[in-house]
Amino acid sequence: MDSLTSSAAWQALAAHHAETGEARLSDLFAADAGRFERFSLSAAGLFLDYSKNRIDPRGMELLLALARSRGLENAQAAMFAGRRINTTENRAVLHVALRNRADTPIEVDGADVMPAVRQVLARMGEFAEGVRSGAWTGHTGETITDVVNIGIGGSDLGPAMACQALAALGHPRLTMHFVSNIDGDHLAGVLARVNPARTLFIVASKTFTTIETMTNAASARAWFLASGATEADIARHFVAVSTNAGKVEAFGIDPANMFGFWDWVGGRYSMWSAVGLPIALWVGRDGFEALLAGAHAMDRHFAEAPLEANMPVILGLIGVWYRNFFGAGSLCVAPYAQALARLPAYLQQLEMESNGKSVTRDGAPVEVATCPVIWGEPGTNGQHAFFQLLHQGTDLIPVDFIAPLAASHGLADHHRLLLANCIAQSKALMVGKGADEVRAELTAQGLSGEALEALVPHRVFPGNRPSNTLLLPDLSPASLGALIALYEHKVFVQSVIWGINAFDQWGVELGKQIASRIGDELAGGAAGEHDASTRGLIALAGRRLGAAA
Ligand code: F6P
Repeated sequence: MDSLTSSAAWQALAAHHAETGEARLSDLFAADAGRFERFSLSAAGLFLDYSKNRIDPRGMELLLALARSRGLENAQAAMFAGRRINTTENRAVLHVALRNRADTPIEVDGADVMPAVRQVLARMGEFAEGVRSGAWTGHTGETITDVVNIGIGGSDLGPAMACQALAALGHPRLTMHFVSNIDGDHLAGVLARVNPARTLFIVASKTFTTIETMTNAASARAWFLASGATEADIARHFVAVSTNAGKVEAFGIDPANMFGFWDWVGGRYSMWSAVGLPIALWVGRDGFEALLAGAHAMDRHFAEAPLEANMPVILGLIGVWYRNFFGAGSLCVAPYAQALARLPAYLQQLEMESNGKSVTRDGAPVEVATCPVIWGEPGTNGQHAFFQLLHQGTDLIPVDFIAPLAASHGLADHHRLLLANCIAQSKALMVGKGADEVRAELTAQGLSGEALEALVPHRVFPGNRPSNTLLLPDLSPASLGALIALYEHKVFVQSVIWGINAFDQWGVELGKQIASRIGDELAGGAAGEHDASTRGLIALAGRRLGAAA
């Protein structure tokens, strides 16, 4: 394959950008009465309007040609076929198998993974229904009221985001808690609010070695035993989600209380596996299966739709267009749904841990910028905080607006105003406000002369700022499943264009190793070799810890 930037497809895009990159969105709409229909599509129940992007039909054709020239279709087929596309870890990448609702086998090295997937799913469903119905009780015979998921990264963000998103459907007796941070404030804050006899802890860790999770789990266990419970009672209150049965047993959790998954499930792609147990507890077996079904519908769309009508492909290519041809360094995700408050954090891990890479699959330096910074907050809150910068700041920051069309609550009028704001913001970013319009407005307010002119530049909006709008029918499990699968596949599409492995995360290792050594030093171990800054900080922290001990 040609180098990316010297390929004919890339060169054609660069030329097209040079020619059309400054075109005004308003002019593109004025010139094409069918632009909204041309640049919007539905898939798996979701509707994507991508017409407010600085791209014309020829630009889309060229992006699609780039995708084909980078072998996207083969890469998709390789993933769905269970090939070991995560080459640096020699693993298949099969989160799609976890939500495969068809009867079709999915194989890794000739072995169908589906029987094991179905078996764990059935066990999860049975366990979740037992807790929800009250058949599963704590050691004193009381029903469970609080579920505390202890995990971090992919073993936290997916279930935490989804349980919040589906809050309207949660079991009324249960309160879900998510403890991830090694900062003891996190666990202590939750333990202060729960009753040990009525609490179920889920220790979720793919590896069962992650220091944050193991530390929190050990403290939770000690707290539970200190309440007067016995070792034997642990079986009613602690379950594990992991790929590492040996470590689970060594920790003291009965393997019968372990829900397994497999090395071909990446941490940030794992909410569909047993890592989703909190979701199943919260919305029940049927709700969890509906989430899987929504994701599966998006998988089928991704695998089967032609590239030009393929939602994840379009979303991914538009992202490449801004990142590489406009130099956009970040993407703002603005869910117009308070229940999706954790979605930006979830997508940060999904996108930035997947595509925050600077070498290609062959180990060569990448030729172009890769993953942008992903950030955001729910609308309308963001409007009263950082939207100023989106509208009048110096950077081009594309925005993904995400909104459910139906509300999950019964409060009159809120949803009309919410949706109005969502639609208004994408329009305002696009059309802006020119100096003449500002002058007319200020004149109507009675200003004139120098006072008026002094204000004009401050009140001009440059406009031409791009966005996607994704509409969900509602915040149901199926819609949420489709939404998350959409972003997963978008990330994959971008990784194929950039030629990188989206499924490893070596970049998190160095800090972990150094933290472990510094932790030993702070416990009184031998001093390591450090620069003056690190040495000084260790000394300060050591003195403070020593004084507190
Ligand atoms: O440190 C990064 C990471 O490995 C993530 O990729 C992962 O989701 C998280 O830590 C938690 O890992 P585990 O599930 O093995 O505890």
